[in-house]
Amino acid sequence: MITISVCNHKGGTGKTTSSINLSAALSLSGLNVLVVDLDPQGFLTRMVGVGEPVPAASSAVLFDPDAKADRVLPILDTGSFALMPSSPALSSGMRKLTRPVDVLWLKEFVERDAPSLGYDILLFDTAAAVTVYSLNALAASNHVVIPVLPEYQPVVGAEQTWQTAQMVRKKLNPGLDEPSFLLTMVDGRKQNHRSYRAYMREKYGPHVMRQIIRTCTTLSISHGPGGNVYSRNAHARGAVDYAGAAEELLSRMGRMVEA
Ligand SMILES: Nc1ncnc2c1ncn2[C@@H]1O[C@H](COP(=O)(O)OP(=O)(O)OP(=O)(O)O)[C@@H](O)[C@H]1O
Ligand SMILES: [Mg+2]
Repeated sequence: MITISVCNHKGGTGKTTSSINLSAALSLSGLNVLVVDLDPQGFLTRMVGVGEPVPAASSAVLFDPDAKADRVLPILDTGSFALMPSSPALSSGMRKLTRPVDVLWLKEFVERDAPSLGYDILLFDTAAAVTVYSLNALAASNHVVIPVLPEYQPVVGAEQTWQTAQMVRKKLNPGLDEPSFLLTMVDGRKQNHRSYRAYMREKYGPHVMRQIIRTCTTLSISHGPGGNVYSRNAHARGAVDYAGAAEELLSRMGRMVEA
């Protein structure tokens, strides 16, 4: 089982769009994917057409010390990948997650419950900023994808996320690989995009994925049931780009996943 965090401490860099469409592309290639929405704002949950669940039917159950060991896990079928939806209870729950061990809830789920669920890939969509949930995601993952729009603020956020991932690897999770940067919303006509792409490739070399995600209107309007670009137009630029990114990610992870 592969576990992937999608993180960038800067907002609006394509985390949720990448989580949805990478997961959809991986599912289309025959893999069983479970997405856990860890953003209290729950945009991924909304984007795939799922209404706001009650707390007990959301990813908040993974962080509930009173939850019973034999609880039914709230997992829905989006028609493409499986989803554990988010609820605003993640926000209020954060106040209780203040002990150092509270960064390990998700790791416990991955190690104790997830193997019997039969998924090939678990993918965690996280909110911008460093929260106990994004740390949980990194502590429970083998891989981290950092979507980065090639502009000043997202690049700074991506570099901060790289540092956080290094810290997590050193202190919490030695099994976390070096992050992969995924350039998103790339506009070939913009000079600053060309400059920041060159900067990232020069500084981070092989850690920047070869596949880029270009700007694509279909990606930004693909929401509702299905909620991914493949259910709207499988020939759109975004569909082609995310299929390439999913394939590259699998080969980067260098593991055979049984389909
Ligand atoms: N390749 C793309 N082309 C065009 N629009 C895109 C593309 N990728 C993302 N978008 C749009 O950019 C906006 C931000 O994307 P998204 O919600 O995926 O970012 P995010 O990092 O998850 O944001 P947040 O930090 O708020 O969770 C959305 O409106 C989305 O539809
Ligand atoms: Mg998001």
